[in-house]
Amino acid sequence: MKTYIILPNIKRSPIPEEFQDDDVRSAEFLPEYFIEHFTQPGDTVFDPFAGFGTTLLVAERMKRIPFGIEADERRYEYTRSKLAMKDNIILGDSRQLDTFPLPAIDFVFTSPIFMGSDETKNPLSGFKEDGTYQVYLDQIQDIFRKLSEFLNPGAKVVVEVFNLAPKGTRPMTLLAWDMTYAISKALRFEREIIACWQEVDEEDTGETPMDVGYDHHYCLVFVKE
Ligand SMILES: C[S@@+](CC[C@H](N)C(=O)[O-])C[C@H]1O[C@@H](n2cnc3c(N)ncnc32)[C@H](O)[C@@H]1O
Repeated sequence: MKTYIILPNIKRSPIPEEFQDDDVRSAEFLPEYFIEHFTQPGDTVFDPFAGFGTTLLVAERMKRIPFGIEADERRYEYTRSKLAMKDNIILGDSRQLDTFPLPAIDFVFTSPIFMGSDETKNPLSGFKEDGTYQVYLDQIQDIFRKLSEFLNPGAKVVVEVFNLAPKGTRPMTLLAWDMTYAISKALRFEREIIACWQEVDEEDTGETPMDVGYDHHYCLVFVKE
């Protein structure tokens, strides 16, 4: 497996207008690439931050069994409406992952909600609770520790994440590396694969595709021993 991949920066599936200003979806190419490499038809593919269901929908299309958790009710309803296996998404908080009736899991592809090191509301609570960046990282670690209990031995866990470049008053946040360290306390870190986003129109506007200051994401690969 190469240590970098170059993918077109497009989302193939349309999203309803009401969500267009809030399109936090991963590009389908990314879960597709890793599901192809790391799973077989019939395997269970899980996403604890399911969002608009990209991982689950790609998995289902590729004849895998999708399973996921999403805390936001509108996104949950949207994903549920798109899945054939409608009961395979849970509306809930992944911090309580150990309390849900989850199956044995063969593979995880997920992109957690992100936090800047200067923020003071914990995004894992829907921005309702106060919480420092360290609290957020500790809770991320705890989620993956709980998740580890459901993973079949040898299961891979791929986490899509990026560092946050300084912008305006926003400081640099080394989120990719801090998250690697946090999750590596729960699962063995195997390697990173860098996903580079190629603009489809090739016009260099000076803006980065994801508005985080970088044209690439890290795909952190962990393994359940
Ligand atoms: C970056 S988005 C994931 C997008 C997804 N990969 C997709 O393609 O649609 C992160 C998601 O995590 C959800 N989330 C945040 N905190 C959560 C929690 N504690 N438990 C479950 N989901 C949570 C957010 O509502 C958001 O939809």
